[in-house]
Amino acid sequence: MSDTRPAALHQRQPAPPCIFVIFGASGDLTKRKLIPALFNLSCVGLLPEKFAIVGVAITPGNDQTFRDQMSADIKQFSTHPVDPQQWDPFVAGCYYLHGDLNDQSAYTALKEKLDAVRQARGIPGGNVVFNLAITPTLFGNVAAHLGDAGLLHETPDGFRRVIIEKPFGRDLDSARELNNELHGNLKEAQIYRIDHYLGKETVQNIMVFRFANMIFEPNWNRRYVDSVQITVAERLGVENRGGYLDNYGVLRDMVQNHMLSVLSLIAMEPPGNISGDAVRNEKVKVLEAIRPMEPEEVLENCVRGQYGAGIIDGRQVPAYRDEPSVNPHSNTETYAALRLFVENWRWADVPFYLRTGKRLAKHLTQVVIRFKRTPLMLFGEKVHSEAGPNALILNIQPEESITIMIRAKKPGPNIVVDTIPLDFDYSEFGKQSPATGYETLLHDCMIGDMTLFHREDSVDASWRIVNPILDVWGALPPRDFPDYDAGTWGPASADKLLERDGRQWENPS
Ligand SMILES: NC(=O)c1ccc[n+]([C@@H]2O[C@H](COP(=O)([O-])OP(=O)(O)OC[C@H]3O[C@@H](n4cnc5c(N)ncnc54)[C@H](OP(=O)(O)O)[C@@H]3O)[C@@H](O)[C@H]2O)c1
Repeated sequence: MSDTRPAALHQRQPAPPCIFVIFGASGDLTKRKLIPALFNLSCVGLLPEKFAIVGVAITPGNDQTFRDQMSADIKQFSTHPVDPQQWDPFVAGCYYLHGDLNDQSAYTALKEKLDAVRQARGIPGGNVVFNLAITPTLFGNVAAHLGDAGLLHETPDGFRRVIIEKPFGRDLDSARELNNELHGNLKEAQIYRIDHYLGKETVQNIMVFRFANMIFEPNWNRRYVDSVQITVAERLGVENRGGYLDNYGVLRDMVQNHMLSVLSLIAMEPPGNISGDAVRNEKVKVLEAIRPMEPEEVLENCVRGQYGAGIIDGRQVPAYRDEPSVNPHSNTETYAALRLFVENWRWADVPFYLRTGKRLAKHLTQVVIRFKRTPLMLFGEKVHSEAGPNALILNIQPEESITIMIRAKKPGPNIVVDTIPLDFDYSEFGKQSPATGYETLLHDCMIGDMTLFHREDSVDASWRIVNPILDVWGALPPRDFPDYDAGTWGPASADKLLERDGRQWENPS
């Protein structure tokens, strides 16, 4: 594993020769994210010269029909205009195998296909990445079939790596069971549990921001920080994934993975170096310092909600229960807010408020670190009560920016203090190539850098936090769903969660 991982794609070297196998090649994730991301990597010269993609799905087809389908899809899903001079050689390296992944014969056929593709493209060595872009119920079986077919056996000139999509389990027990199933055929170092949030430039910048600057780190603790808010708000509803969301809910879909990952980046201690294991060791310590809640603590610290009909962008949108593929009596949460405590020396008693929801007022992912007030009210109580507190706002999407809210004197004869923003817009810092969020992660996997992937212990630790909440919510059906209108900031009970602490959510206008 590399000890000094490059910070940005433009500083990287191409990946070593390999074949990238996509299980689920006819699916939504493949066309919207994986192929556009691999194409982007190829456009910036980060795919090896000796490279091929092999797609596998049930849909009948052959290499040519697959290439035709991808050529049609890329026009819709590419993050930039498609230059045929770049696309044509890329798509010529794409192959297809039609087969049922529940059937061992598909893996025998895959083995033959890999040999044929390796020969046709002159790909040296035996490096293969298997990307499991398939329904989660297949993850364990597919790993077992791959193992039985001898496709996971590594050699000195051939790595075998498996990318596992979310969701990783439905709860603590099923996640452990899946880990056990995978470990029956794979070493932990071969398992890349992907979290596309961690592929975002601004999320990776959290570590640089914290550990490459001296001015923030001394204040980054319970002496100076009042509270932390992490918001992942979506304006979208369920789109075409109603069946999936209704089965999982946002606590599993967003909090267990993405949000707890962001929290651990915010709260972790500085690692000794930036190797994958050093960073992941520190991240998991944060999760382990969040004590799983007792049932009565769940009732006190966790809020769920579900959207009703409402107005978004001037357009009437249906209630969650009226969305396609959603049970009309569904009790699945489309909103969750949590108040968590990281019980260690740095963060004891500092609340971390997390919230996520669909059909909210704004599309926004942000982290707000609120600082405590100054110890002495030199400029009067009015300043302290009226001017907002110091805050550091890390905007992750859609804008990628950092804002520091500071207090300053308003020009004029009297001392009038107001809070003003100091803004840093990431897009002005350096030209970014438009990306899907998967580029960094897929390239990391090909070069063997596991820093941004979830390790077994962090999956376990995050499910241990979420599981008691699932248990209580499962045992006590909600009485008041739907409890927020589409296009608002969520249920009133989430506002009360903070009001009880004398705080409020940072809702941008
Ligand atoms: N879509 C997203 O935005 C997104 C985001 C994050 C994570 N994910 C995760 O990514 C994975 C894929 O999601 P998706 O939305 O792409 O699903 P999807 O559109 O339903 O696609 C599923 C794919 O799996 C294939 N498949 C299913 N059963 C198979 C079998 N027995 N043998 C061979 N192929 C089989 C399907 O092939 P056929 O079409 O030929 O049947 C299809 O290509 C899931 O784990 C999901 O949770 C998706």
